[in-house]
Amino acid sequence: MLTINPVTSYSNIDGVGVITLNSPPVNALSAAVRDGIHAAALAAIADPAAHAIVLLCEGRTFIAGADIAAFGKPPTGVSLPEVQRVLEDSPKPVVAAIHGTALGGGLEVALVCHYRIAVPSARLGLPEVHLGLLPGAGGTQRLPRIVGPEAALQMMTSGVHMPAAEALHNGLLDALAPEGQLRATAIAFAQQVVAEKRPLRKIREQNDKVQAARGQPELFTRFRQSHAKQFRGFDAPEKIIQCVEAAVNLPFDEGLQRERQLFTGLVQGQQSAAQRNHFFASRQAWNIPGLAQDAATLPVQTVGIIGAGTMGAGIAMNFLNAGLPVHLVETGQEALDRGLRTIRSNYENTARKGRITPQAIEQRMALLSSSLDLQDLAQVDLVIEAVFENMAVKKELFARLDGICKPAAILASNTSALDLNEIASATARPESVIGLHFFSPANVMKLLEVVRGARTSDAVIATAMQLARKIGKVAVLVGVCPGFVGNRILAQRQREANQLILEGAMPWAVDRVLYDFGFPMGPFAMSDLAGLDLGWNKEKSSSSTLREVLCEMDRRGQKTGAGFYDYDEKRTAIPSPLVEKAIQDFARQRGVQAREVSDEEILERCIYPMINEGAKILEEGMALRASDIDVVWVNGYGWPVYHGGPMFYGERIGLPKVLAKMQEFEARWGPQFKPAKLLQELVASGRTFSDLQPAG
Ligand code: CAA
Repeated sequence: MLTINPVTSYSNIDGVGVITLNSPPVNALSAAVRDGIHAAALAAIADPAAHAIVLLCEGRTFIAGADIAAFGKPPTGVSLPEVQRVLEDSPKPVVAAIHGTALGGGLEVALVCHYRIAVPSARLGLPEVHLGLLPGAGGTQRLPRIVGPEAALQMMTSGVHMPAAEALHNGLLDALAPEGQLRATAIAFAQQVVAEKRPLRKIREQNDKVQAARGQPELFTRFRQSHAKQFRGFDAPEKIIQCVEAAVNLPFDEGLQRERQLFTGLVQGQQSAAQRNHFFASRQAWNIPGLAQDAATLPVQTVGIIGAGTMGAGIAMNFLNAGLPVHLVETGQEALDRGLRTIRSNYENTARKGRITPQAIEQRMALLSSSLDLQDLAQVDLVIEAVFENMAVKKELFARLDGICKPAAILASNTSALDLNEIASATARPESVIGLHFFSPANVMKLLEVVRGARTSDAVIATAMQLARKIGKVAVLVGVCPGFVGNRILAQRQREANQLILEGAMPWAVDRVLYDFGFPMGPFAMSDLAGLDLGWNKEKSSSSTLREVLCEMDRRGQKTGAGFYDYDEKRTAIPSPLVEKAIQDFARQRGVQAREVSDEEILERCIYPMINEGAKILEEGMALRASDIDVVWVNGYGWPVYHGGPMFYGERIGLPKVLAKMQEFEARWGPQFKPAKLLQELVASGRTFSDLQPAG
């Protein structure tokens, strides 16, 4: 065996030159990996005893793409196109042997090989779109030549990781190797290619699929139209479409040039910077400083959930989906039955969409038991309460659980607002108490705020994080404060949105500005959807808020056909002159002078206080790092990922500008805009949020 460089080796096995990469964690295409492949490929080509070449990887995966951390940095080492040229032009057949994932640049390397073989568990994809990019190493030109333009568009704009069986079916793979026998099978495959004198198949020369689509611009028009909603605001999907148009209409080399040009534009752009940042932020959030990587975790084999309302039922589904038995407890049979029905009908809906099989429904339901007796939770490893948001109720419940649950059990609250430490104080084991703040609908929403109480033990935190991963959540550790991280920041935006409409910006203007910024929906459309009468009481209503006024007018949101907006039978939101008048009357009674409010002011008034509140959260140590706050907002509140998250966005526009605006707003409108101390300190010292060390 020849060591080419620290991450690459070369050996000749029975006439086949085998290039092996070993660059943990994911064999990303760093300079060392590119240099290694290049040198090893040249060695293999020069090796008279090698008649074919196999490229494979050690470790958990084939090449998982370019080294994302290296984007935007000066290039070093052999370029990727040069590596690809050597492989593709090799006079000896090159076989890529794939396990784990062949993603992005990794798949693009495999696509210049003459043949591809993979184990059944492998997955292949061009997920650059999730990083605000397009496949920039020939992927947009080669993929359509194998799978056809439409399938290529779908694959590249969704970033899907395609299972090996499907890849075999559509020609991306030539053969499958038995699990665990990739190396030997790939070598045998390469020998067979040589023995049968099979051609050096270059995808770049296969034109039939792209030619068939030439002169059919409607293919692209249709694709753009049918995905308009999904692509809204994102730059990369449109550029991917343009690349596939080039693949269809231009000779290969010109298409490649077009791809390079469009890739360069994206990689230098702000969206990709934000999305790349989010990629690392999402992974970083799992890292809890102070907790050993392998902090002892508690076994969680069974889960008890108290409360079978929408929240409790949704939470239960997470664990059932992951194969964990759940015992659901309610106070009344009717509520319990309703909860059980909700779970089953949610599963049936999913099955109707073809996402799970009817057998899977029964398997999951079989893991679910239920009763009206808290005593039945005596043996579960984790209890999550999802009952009414009332401190007295929760304290009483936790005191009872303390007496019922086994000593090692974790006692979790799904509270979204209450003081977890006070809840924990009702037990004799506050170290076992933690907050698990799920977001509604809990079986769908990715975000989970894991709330660390003052006394929560490391083992309980580590277990909660591990469990969150197991049930497929994006977990962020937060501290105890009103609204935790997500809702605390939301309250800032909501306050300003409410105030802005009194000052003269109509709800539809505020909604439009935030929608155009990239949120899926503005705050007023959102309120209408949720119902304006949440917590409203007809008898006690005293026109003290605009919401009350609207409820008194029986405008209680979409369900009554009217709220901040009027709704037609298709539920289209239409600005309402009645609401406009109601707002103006309400503002006048409170002495608020109506004026022109610009879109710019709407955006700044809604967004800057969020950044400022994020700074306060960091200052108080309620989030470990700024990027955790961004992860919360992207995954739980629809913050557009191409703006990174509120903290990333604040950094991008510049903290001095955010501070100056907050000071201006404070002087004009009052102390609710008081700049965070941390914001002032960072600006004074020329630093920014990402310069801060994680709290811990
Ligand atoms: N570059 C740099 N680091 C990477 C990486 C990459 N392409 N892919 C993963 N990593 C790092 C992660 O940051 C993580 O680091 P830490 O342990 O320090 O947090 C580590 O590798 C393991 O990653 P995951 O925690 O995500 O592990 P996983 O097993 O859950 O998932 C994976 C593995 C499916 C490969 C996933 O990491 C992934 O999707 N990676 C990104 C793949 C991708 O987008 N490739 C395209 C890159 S862009 C490109 O290739 C452009 C081009 O055209 C040339």
